[in-house]
Amino acid sequence: MTRTQVGIIGAGPAGLMLSHLLHLAGIESVILESRSRKAIEETIRAGVLEQNTVDLMVETGVGARLQREGFVHHGFEFRFEGHGHRIDLTGLTGGRAITVYPQHEVLKDLVEARLAAGADIRFETRDVALHDLTSTPRITFTGVDGQPGELACAFIAGCDGSYGVSRPAIPADKRRDFLRIYPFGWFGILADAPPSAHELIYARHERGFALISTRSPDVQRMYFQCDPADSVDNWSEDRIWAELQTRTEGEGFRLTEGRIFQKNIVPMRSYVCEPMQYGRLFIAGDAAHTVPPTGAKGLNLAVADVFILARALERSLKSGADEGLQSYSATALKRIWRAQHFSWWMTSMLHRFEDATAFDRRRQLAELELVTSSESAARTVAENYVGLPLA
Ligand code: FAD
Ligand code: DHB
Repeated sequence: MTRTQVGIIGAGPAGLMLSHLLHLAGIESVILESRSRKAIEETIRAGVLEQNTVDLMVETGVGARLQREGFVHHGFEFRFEGHGHRIDLTGLTGGRAITVYPQHEVLKDLVEARLAAGADIRFETRDVALHDLTSTPRITFTGVDGQPGELACAFIAGCDGSYGVSRPAIPADKRRDFLRIYPFGWFGILADAPPSAHELIYARHERGFALISTRSPDVQRMYFQCDPADSVDNWSEDRIWAELQTRTEGEGFRLTEGRIFQKNIVPMRSYVCEPMQYGRLFIAGDAAHTVPPTGAKGLNLAVADVFILARALERSLKSGADEGLQSYSATALKRIWRAQHFSWWMTSMLHRFEDATAFDRRRQLAELELVTSSESAARTVAENYVGLPLA
């Protein structure tokens, strides 16, 4: 049996950042991850880092590559009715911005820093199960060598994403689930092409939403609203480009096309589990909540959760003061619900809803007119998009 102070399940942004912050505070952890290092470092997911996430990475010594290779964006565009309208993120928020730097690059930087500091990360661990959460917590598992293992710890951090084992370890009668499923998904592509615009474009079109993002001067990331049950095989390159061109058209704008080398469809939902604690188990990131990606909040919320959790665990393990742990769930949930509202709002302003009436569509356009013409409304969007300060 291995002993550690905090047993962490999942090596996503939440688990790795938590382990990193705990290490800086002199606290030991072990991470159990079901996938291989290669798999987590290659999975394409989010791309936008809030100012808070960037600052935390830089301040804690894992931001050097991000500062070199990330792209700082001071604004983005809302595009509707054939016209673009810029949201001046930096001007409206007193100097804040977002950085485009893919999630798997964040993971590479965190894994490298953790392993360089001698961290115990067990990749390809199977059969993870949680025990004795209200007394002396333990985690049992099967290691990559096929041998059974056991980890005894003072606390368990469940950072194992939407489909992990941590949240279900909270008894159903001790938690409440809040769920909203959207009747659409996002079709995501990566293409070999130069950027079509200097900043991200969030486009609302009668045919549905489209998002133009970037990865590098040679690789672009784009999404368009689709049927979540559709298959990427139904979409040829020509059909994808025609759809994206139509949804972003106007003022002579044309996307620069190129070879599409990755396609995926993600469903969209909003979900929150309350509370984010049971006994000595604390859940964080996607294990506790999901946001639709329109607000670019998923990864950033995961980091914000573990920022709060790391401080609370440090206080408890160093001085026995448990107030931070007792208030962890309530503190994190405040920010989560704020992000839930913002993500739902962005989603509702920009997507095509099949059951929308002509009135609903005019009202949707009026809302976009408001956020692109009223400075106070635009500021609300900008402040939420760059991220509220960490507590
Ligand atoms: P995760 O990144 O999911 O990490 C959890 C880790 O736990 C994984 O590595 C997993 O392998 C591991 N794990 C799971 N079960 C077990 C187990 N039983 N035992 C051990 N380990 C386990 N957000 C955006 O803002 N924009 C986007 O475009 C976007 N695209 C996305 C696309 C996809 C396909 C997905 C799934 C998510 C996307 N997100 C996006 C959301 C964002 O990526 C997540 O919010 C973020 O990854 C949350 O980090 P996390 O550490 O909480 O969870
Ligand atoms: C990206 C993803 C998002 O969900 C978003 O809102 C903006 C950008 C991206 O992958 O680049």
